[in-house]
Amino acid sequence: MSNPIRFYFQGQVQTVDDIATTQTILQHLREDRHCTGTKEGCAEGDCGACTVVIAEMKDGKVEMKSVNSCIQFMPTLDGKALFTVEDLKQPDGAMHPVQQALVECHGSQCGFCTPGFAMSLWSLYLKKDGESAAPCRKEIDETLSGNLCRCTGYRPIIDAAKRMGELPEVKFDQAALTSSLQALQRSEMFVYQHGEQTFYAPRTLEQLVAIRAAKPTACILSGSTDVGLWVTKQMRDLGDIIYVREVAELKTITETNGMLEIGAGVNLNDAYAAVCRQYPDELTEMWQRFASQPIRNTGTLGGSVANGSPIGDSAPWMIALGAEIVLCGVNGQRVLLLEDFYLDYMKKDMQPGEFVAAVRIPLPRANVHFRTYKLAKRYDQDISAVCAAYAITLAGDIVRDAHIAYGGMAATSKRAPQAEAALNGQLWNETNLQNAMAMLAQDYSPLSDMRASSEYRMKTAQNLLRRFWLETRTDAPLSLQSVSAYANA
Ligand code: FES
Ligand code: FES
Repeated sequence: MSNPIRFYFQGQVQTVDDIATTQTILQHLREDRHCTGTKEGCAEGDCGACTVVIAEMKDGKVEMKSVNSCIQFMPTLDGKALFTVEDLKQPDGAMHPVQQALVECHGSQCGFCTPGFAMSLWSLYLKKDGESAAPCRKEIDETLSGNLCRCTGYRPIIDAAKRMGELPEVKFDQAALTSSLQALQRSEMFVYQHGEQTFYAPRTLEQLVAIRAAKPTACILSGSTDVGLWVTKQMRDLGDIIYVREVAELKTITETNGMLEIGAGVNLNDAYAAVCRQYPDELTEMWQRFASQPIRNTGTLGGSVANGSPIGDSAPWMIALGAEIVLCGVNGQRVLLLEDFYLDYMKKDMQPGEFVAAVRIPLPRANVHFRTYKLAKRYDQDISAVCAAYAITLAGDIVRDAHIAYGGMAATSKRAPQAEAALNGQLWNETNLQNAMAMLAQDYSPLSDMRASSEYRMKTAQNLLRRFWLETRTDAPLSLQSVSAYANA
């Protein structure tokens, strides 16, 4: 039986039951509700013109996050609250401090990007609730990492981010929102049907296994950061959809048997926060550079590895560490090394009726030296030309076990068996490093494309291995900080 989509918007619960399962929130806002403050720029989650804030219940509390409305399908809004730039207007018609600061600091010219910036800044304003301190530059940069402006330039917008907290405060009524959202929560699977297509949002693992078995070819949807583009860019008909982000068991992060297990429904920010607590020096920069804040708020690590893009930034470091992927289906659970999951370009070892339930990441181990590096044209939110990851186990100055993995060098993220063989059992010295660097040319034949030439990819892949050696060599070790300071000098 089909249920209507229910969500909180502009002070009331809204009910919708006559739209396509893949209508985006942006389309619904602009075309059905004529709320045209929210803009469409790229329709693929890159520019931030469409940024809205979505509130949902998490562990009994309301969580409010910036989201790209252009790639989120309407049924995913069920049980949540939606806030757009129209909500910033105060009851007396005055502008919100976020908007006032943008005006005062000259943070807008053509204005096309401005509603998106305003909503990202509002998400930061909400986070700073009750704190008088202006956000620091790092917080501002992270908040705005998903918003592009092509005419004003960023300095006045950053000034506005600092200024907004100095203006008379506008309080947000969290308590009222909490009770509205609590009333919208469902315990049963949400089923929404339109025409021939049905959207299923199971609440439990048992429901998910059952619906996956009944619909083995349905499209599995998690954060929609890639699947959304199949609709907005490729105009694909997705058929039935199974949305996994409401499954309670997939939203957990646990530590067992030396592994950090991250459920497939955990968003990228929470997943990276958990792994960065274990590997702060090694992974924090990757976290900051991985997509934008709104994408990290909705995308999931499970979805990212299930998608299996050869230029993804998570698979290389996970493969280097020996991460596992947990697949579930009606026949139970299968656990594979992540490197074995990828068979060929976008081809994975997944049986009909299976889905990704979790990833397992080994916790830090003694004598394992681990680093990952991303090369892209832009610091924030850019696809890598090459992504490298290394984990070597040293016994004294001998390499006991080398794990070398790259993204952007082959049809899948994959290890470098010949380079690893050149190191295993050998001294971790320059001669053997050079042998391993030369062997990378046997392991990979990278492509040339708009991001980088084949030659550039090979050269930088080799040089990144050298950088790793410089940072971990046993004879005259350089600390990570001193190498970074040297690189940035
Ligand atoms: Fe560009 Fe949505 S329209 S991110
Ligand atoms: Fe024109 Fe930002 S003000 S794109």
